[in-house]
Amino acid sequence: MPTYADFLRSKCPNPADPSITGLFQSEAALLTDPIAFKTLKRFQRTNAFFREFSDVMERMGAMAVLTGNEGEIRRQCNKMRAGNGSLFIFMVSLLVLGVFRVSSASTIKGLQMNFYKKSCPDAENIVKQTTRNRVETNPALPAKLIRMHFHDCFIRGCDASVLLDAANNNPAEKDTVPNQTLSGFDVIDDIKTEIENVCPGTVSCADILSLAARDALSFPSNKDMWKVPTGRRDGRISLASEVNGNIPSPFSNFATLQQLFASKGLGINDLVALSGAHTIGVARCATFSRRLYNFTGKGDADPTLDATYADLLRSKCPNLGNPATTVDMDPPTPLSFDKSYFTILLENKGLLQSDATLLTNGFSLATVRRFQGSNSFFGEFAASMKKLGAIGVLTGTDGEIRKQCRVVN
Ligand code: HEM
Repeated sequence: MPTYADFLRSKCPNPADPSITGLFQSEAALLTDPIAFKTLKRFQRTNAFFREFSDVMERMGAMAVLTGNEGEIRRQCNKMRAGNGSLFIFMVSLLVLGVFRVSSASTIKGLQMNFYKKSCPDAENIVKQTTRNRVETNPALPAKLIRMHFHDCFIRGCDASVLLDAANNNPAEKDTVPNQTLSGFDVIDDIKTEIENVCPGTVSCADILSLAARDALSFPSNKDMWKVPTGRRDGRISLASEVNGNIPSPFSNFATLQQLFASKGLGINDLVALSGAHTIGVARCATFSRRLYNFTGKGDADPTLDATYADLLRSKCPNLGNPATTVDMDPPTPLSFDKSYFTILLENKGLLQSDATLLTNGFSLATVRRFQGSNSFFGEFAASMKKLGAIGVLTGTDGEIRKQCRVVN
């Protein structure tokens, strides 16, 4: 049986005619990395490739673009002024760093912009208005809703399973340790009630949560920070047993975080960008006090945590004190969605072990530095949120449209 290599040898006899095209070692190398291999298989099995290719092309076209009065409008395209070569080198380095990453698109099958345009034209306005009213009196709410959306999407996809109460004595997702500190359920209930009053049985709780999270975070800037395509449907199952292993632990190391995010179709860039959500909100002492008092079981502190900052944290979270006491994750600007998280992270003041671990991988560290040193974080966070909001969505006739977000129909 002639092999494929035999076939290629017949096309490219030795010494090879360099004008004949063939296969690259760099392509074969994609089989040697587990995540790249999984992605190849997914592209081969499904139609996701076409969508994801177009998404990456969109991102590539927007990379490091010069706008406004940066750069110049060349008279001749093939003649550049001295110095422009650095842009080329910059682009090549971004390529080498793998910044062009494969992503699932916002236009994932079944989700579309303005899904409720005909069936409930006011739906998105109601979500926005109600969310804004609530954020106005509770500036901590954006952190609650963003985290709730993340925890929803990482278990069974963005299907509002996190909103369901326990049923038939079976504990639900919300009954588990990481989810017991979620709040904002009442806000989703209020929005749902208002929408049900005008369009009964039409708008899913999953869409309401996804829109409300975006609207809450966008409130201060008064501008939608990313687009939320809609058409999600609600799941009928919520199991406490599925939380462990799907919601990342604050004690995770880099490899664990990378694997968990990869299992949801998210790369290192997404991991770093989305961790940037820790630029707002609070964490309980219980989630990081091990770093202060007993890091390796010998009464020691985490050596990667800035020592002076550790002292301050110890004063806020005394040993054997109340584990439910909260501390700002980004003390300089705890309510402002800025890039300060990356600044303090690089000063070894990331609060959680899972934050600090982002400095332990070369690509991740380069991404942290890039986000700290430029304004690319905001666009990339938005892009990653779009991907997050499309994880495992139920669409078409799957699932249901719940009447109340806390119970299945
Ligand atoms: C990378 C893995 C992650 C881990 C291990 C992690 C873990 C945690 C922990 C332990 C807390 C403190 C909870 C508490 O004590 O109440 C927290 C807070 C928070 N997380 Fe994450 N998180 C991760 C990623 C994310 C992502 C992807 C988002 C959103 C896109 C997010 C958004 C938030 C927000 C906004 C808060 C503050 C919540 C509040 O103020 O109540 N986190 N996270």
